[in-house]
Amino acid sequence: GAAINGLKNRWEEGLKARQAVLEASKKQSASRAWAWDPDLPPPLPARGALHPLNRLMDRLVEVFRPLGYHVEEGPEAETEAHNFDGLNIPEDHPARGSADTFYFAGQKGRLLRTHTSPVQVRVLKRLAANIQETGGIRFLSPGRVYRKDEIDPTHSPMFHQVEGMLVGRGIGMQHLKGTLAHAMKALFGPGADVRFRPSYFPFVEPGCEVDVRCPLCGGSGCRVCKGSGWVEILGAGLLHPNVLSYAGLDPQTWSGFAFGMGVERTAMMVSLTPDLRLFFELGQRFLKAMGGL
Ligand code: DAH
Repeated sequence: GAAINGLKNRWEEGLKARQAVLEASKKQSASRAWAWDPDLPPPLPARGALHPLNRLMDRLVEVFRPLGYHVEEGPEAETEAHNFDGLNIPEDHPARGSADTFYFAGQKGRLLRTHTSPVQVRVLKRLAANIQETGGIRFLSPGRVYRKDEIDPTHSPMFHQVEGMLVGRGIGMQHLKGTLAHAMKALFGPGADVRFRPSYFPFVEPGCEVDVRCPLCGGSGCRVCKGSGWVEILGAGLLHPNVLSYAGLDPQTWSGFAFGMGVERTAMMVSLTPDLRLFFELGQRFLKAMGGL
């Protein structure tokens, strides 16, 4: 017992002595840290920057501006009439169901827009009145959209789209293809591998989808392209006569094309990011690394 107590006392003394040394050196280094050295560069404040998704949308606007497109905006809280009816989407279409769409409780026909296409309906209705004088309509509309999707590497209940539309006389598939091919080259570079594939959307006829060769795997198949080697980034087509008529335009005289691009998908392809959640988690290191986007 005596031996153990002796050991304990020696330990305690040793500990106290060491503590005193540490306290002293802590005080000393604290006073050194406060010393002012006029030769040191000043600490730089962290600079804010645009979010990479906003930068990509700005870039798209700049690709289309020289082609005569201006920017239009529509509300995120929309009506069923603009989001579905004006786009020739039938009453019983599954996208209208409450499993896919966020409806406002207690407000009939009010919802969070599921795509940027309702901006087409608003702009067409507004600009149809003097289309004789203007000769046509061209606009781009970037914005947020909402769907009841589970969060995973390629889905989020809130995401972004850029809608585009052109109305004029004698507009056909060749104009759509030329315009979108130009935009894809501007985004992905002149060697971009892009394909147009027939598809169906109620508001266009004919309709198509535009895929890019998956830059993440080079086309050999990965999680992001679901093994197919291609990623769909755009829906497009020639305006359905019902969409033109709904807005008060005569489909015998006027024709046009429209497209809707998924911004996150495109950003993932441009920046080789395999998980869209990174865009929303706002990690400083990720956002800094995105400087080039
Ligand atoms: N609104 C469609 C979607 O969210 C995309 C789209 C397809 C937009 C065809 C268009 C179009 O303007 O013509 O999936």
